[in-house]
Amino acid sequence: METQTITKIKEISNQISPDLVKLRRELHQYPELYFKEFKTSERIVKELIKLKVRVKKGIAKTGVIGLLVGAIQELPRQNYPKRENIVKTVALRADMDALPILEQTNFPYKSKYPGVMHACGHDVHMTCVIGAAKILSRLKDELNGNVKFIFQPSEEVHPGGAKPMIQAGVLKNPNVSAIFGLHCDPSIPIGKIGVREGPFMAQADNFDIIIHGTGGHGARPHDGVDAIVVAAQVIQALQTIASRKISPVEPVVISVGKIEGGSARNIICDRVILRGTARSLNREVAEKIPRLLKEIAGGIAQSAGATAEVNYQTGYPVLINPPEATGFARNTITRMLGKDAIYEIPQPLMGAEDFAYYLQKVPGSFLRLGTRNPKKNAIYPWHHPKFTVDEEAIKIGSSVLAGLAYTYLNG
Ligand code: NI
Repeated sequence: METQTITKIKEISNQISPDLVKLRRELHQYPELYFKEFKTSERIVKELIKLKVRVKKGIAKTGVIGLLVGAIQELPRQNYPKRENIVKTVALRADMDALPILEQTNFPYKSKYPGVMHACGHDVHMTCVIGAAKILSRLKDELNGNVKFIFQPSEEVHPGGAKPMIQAGVLKNPNVSAIFGLHCDPSIPIGKIGVREGPFMAQADNFDIIIHGTGGHGARPHDGVDAIVVAAQVIQALQTIASRKISPVEPVVISVGKIEGGSARNIICDRVILRGTARSLNREVAEKIPRLLKEIAGGIAQSAGATAEVNYQTGYPVLINPPEATGFARNTITRMLGKDAIYEIPQPLMGAEDFAYYLQKVPGSFLRLGTRNPKKNAIYPWHHPKFTVDEEAIKIGSSVLAGLAYTYLNG
């Protein structure tokens, strides 16, 4: 990307910044939960129509896509191999859902729906993709290829919106050959973009273990099978999955977050339910965990004369940022914002993100948008009732996404 283009992108993003902030505040005031993003999706459609991009709505219920057809639809030169002989389409993705949280900020634009809040910054993500759409539609005459803007429902709640969007064909017609997305990060200072290649976010699965014993009088434990004692052993033993069953260089988290069981102090409990999460950064490791859980819970239960039932639900897959596309993103951002704008994310995160599904289909990169600014109280973590962002990030996020799409298409 030439310096001239970078200057143009920055100029446009400065011009449109007040409108983008307004849009973000509006989206923030009317947050909607997973697969209920009806008003939000209407608002997005309205913005896209203004830009004269081709709009499709109602995908996977509330999903929206916009297609900006670049003015140059030039096939690559004759001497290119045949498979290269296609017009490129790059996608930019935003998620639309909010969280069941009662907002505790004093902003005039705070949520108008008590108990629902954009506390993960998805309002910012949508605004950044709209911002990129605004920038790129002004540069349409220069674009050698197409840009697809993807707004998906439900990132927060498994099974999520990405999978049904892909099943509905959002990566096809025209075929998407790369995808980029970003997520607000309250731990990264404003002005910086977090980058990391390889495994970046975890596969996060859910499990319930139901231990069936036999009830009885608390004074006669030998007449029953105490499900609580079995549960205690199972909880302890689950930790040996990470410490003894999986290589120590592979991160694994097995956490039981909820225990249900028992009715009174003098009654031997006949049933305990353990509810937990299992996370890892490697697909092969993730595939081993359900079997290990069943072996451990089943074996311990059997030795006590109880039985264990394991219900295991696989969550979003490991998010792996391909090195090539991530390197491309790093270089492009460095050219646009300077070397200091790159924040090398030192470690992967054990949180999950359904952007992983897109990356299973096409190359791309999931980036972090620095939103931290103590002066603006933008210090709270995701999903906190006081979560907020430094809105300067909107301008940065919009130009970065626009710059990535532009450079991907035009070189
Ligand atoms: Ni989020």
